[in-house]
Amino acid sequence: MSNREHIKDKVEQWASFLFNDFRSVGLFFCISQDLYVNLAELYSLSKNDSKTSAGVVLNPSDAGQCLTELKRTESFVRGLAEAVLEKLEAGCAPVHVFYAGCGPFATLVLPLTYQFTPEQLQVTILDYHQQAVDSATDLFQLLGKEAYIREAIVDDAVTHRISNPDDVDIVLTETLQRALTQECQVPIVRNLLSQVKKTVPLIPQEIRVGGLWTEVQDGHENRAAVTADDVEMENIIVLNAETVREDSYLRSIRGRAKTRWSQTFCLQTEIDVYGDWKLRRNESGLTCPHPMEGVNFEDGETITFEYEVGEHPGLRLKSKV
Ligand SMILES: C[S@@+](CC[C@H](N)C(=O)[O-])C[C@H]1O[C@@H](n2cnc3c(N)ncnc32)[C@H](O)[C@@H]1O
Repeated sequence: MSNREHIKDKVEQWASFLFNDFRSVGLFFCISQDLYVNLAELYSLSKNDSKTSAGVVLNPSDAGQCLTELKRTESFVRGLAEAVLEKLEAGCAPVHVFYAGCGPFATLVLPLTYQFTPEQLQVTILDYHQQAVDSATDLFQLLGKEAYIREAIVDDAVTHRISNPDDVDIVLTETLQRALTQECQVPIVRNLLSQVKKTVPLIPQEIRVGGLWTEVQDGHENRAAVTADDVEMENIIVLNAETVREDSYLRSIRGRAKTRWSQTFCLQTEIDVYGDWKLRRNESGLTCPHPMEGVNFEDGETITFEYEVGEHPGLRLKSKV
């Protein structure tokens, strides 16, 4: 059997594992990893990021590899399935998902094609990278799933004008890194929500970034266990449909002093994907503490941050009073 013929079985197995609550995590990891390796080889995915005035656009190879982040992928896929089901129960059919940053496999929507019919689910896929849109389109064709794709668009989601915004029922985008650094999630969400109806659900529903004093081992990805000495602070960013529309997603916080000299100030991300599907500390690369070097403050100081939307998106310390 050729690689293309194998892919059908592998995707089917992966999609059914995603919706199975009693699976072996080890086996699920192997299935996901094997599927990614086969798909990456099939499409010879590029490893070149793109740089825009609103941040980095992740290359197709790394975007595809997000599939292997099990808890992230499961939470987004099953949260999205819940949102689609709610729409169907409310009498909306087909449910039209606008998927910005679909990557090379349209990973977050693909498993839903095994749960819903094309009469129930339609998707517009959009990505900055031509190769991502071409691969996703080819994959859907290979699997006999092309009837689910309403439109496939290559464009920048930060500036894209939706052709029929009133037809969109759900906006989906996972174009982020932890602490909302580097990538364009904030301007993408702002652009898309400014065009669709106010009742349209956004997935993820809410992203929060709070302050945290904790021990950082390697200064990079820090999945260190939560300890009793950790000092959690309020949220600096609360990004949801309402706060984006009102431009009120950024807050000042009341500082708390560290309890150990060895603690580093970190930004801690939490994601409410949809319904009960959530990502908490260390459950994915998106929700590991993100060290912010050179920041210090005492109990009770008011700390103000600014969020830079530009080539290097992220939070910067503005003032302490
Ligand atoms: C983190 S990957 C996610 C891939 C896939 N949706 C998933 O969740 O597994 C982000 C994807 O969004 C795309 N992307 C990032 N910024 C974008 C932008 N401004 N416009 C369109 N696509 C963008 C990247 O090319 C990449 O394919």
